[in-house]
Amino acid sequence: MVNKISIVGAGRVGESVAQILAIKKLTECIMLIGRNEQRTKGIALDIQETASVHQFDAKLTGSSDISSIKNSNIVIITAGSPRKPGTDRTDVLATNLKIIDEIMDGIIKYAPDAYVIVVTNPVDVLTYYANKKTGWPRNRIMGQAGILDSMRMSSFIAMETNYSINDIQAMVLGGHGDTMVPLPRFTTVGGIPIEHLLDQKTINNIIQRTRDGGAEILNLKQKSSAYDAPGAAVTIMVEAMVHNKHRLLPCITMLEGEYNQSDIAIGVPVVLGKNGVEKIIELDFTDEERQAFDNSAQIIKGLIKEI
Ligand code: LAC
Repeated sequence: MVNKISIVGAGRVGESVAQILAIKKLTECIMLIGRNEQRTKGIALDIQETASVHQFDAKLTGSSDISSIKNSNIVIITAGSPRKPGTDRTDVLATNLKIIDEIMDGIIKYAPDAYVIVVTNPVDVLTYYANKKTGWPRNRIMGQAGILDSMRMSSFIAMETNYSINDIQAMVLGGHGDTMVPLPRFTTVGGIPIEHLLDQKTINNIIQRTRDGGAEILNLKQKSSAYDAPGAAVTIMVEAMVHNKHRLLPCITMLEGEYNQSDIAIGVPVVLGKNGVEKIIELDFTDEERQAFDNSAQIIKGLIKEI
């Protein structure tokens, strides 16, 4: 158990993260930071009032003052403009870069020892930016995307096969965008690669639906991006760190030569524990997989050049 986790950004993703952290009893104090002080206090209080149902003792606080993140063990960044239907995650880059820049100033000042999880899109580019801005060791600043994308892929496999979601393990690497790299070879049901269980056409459909997973939700909801699944995905990373689980999960991290890439943040399998990203696992890609990964990396590098 850590004492304090702060969530900067009191939109729907931030709210969902706060709620699940409380329910999972991962910390004593949850600080939610939002622009609108009253609204943020309202969200915190609303979740606080569920404590008797979920039997948690965590104290939730809402604030508009970034200095309230002081003494946080973990800071999660969910602030920013979400994308609108018909747009891309990268269309919000300029707006969200400014927001992240300001938040990172606050983190450097008030929570210089914290571990940081970036959630705001375009998450790979902003995770890179946060690393560069702080100069902190790369194990401490990571981004969430691959867990969400893998959760979606697992769901689609469960829907397609009717096998229990409990037995499904999916692996999606690369950037959190149209070029993300779902890896059927490393995706299993009960330890059996899905290539043994599903025909190629079905697998291709699942891959495409995974790539379009965020857009599918946005198109259905129209006025909102996904927040339940993204929020849940973040708490998997927090849980791995808080309980020092050494979980092997796809997360966005800075590469320094791994996968023949450097000066980039991108989704790869990592080991997550109390020291954040403790290890990067390098996979032996086939030519096709490598090409897809390199292509995704190229896209991220193009965006990095813009900042
Ligand atoms: C998604 C957005 C939040 O994938 O990136 O739903």
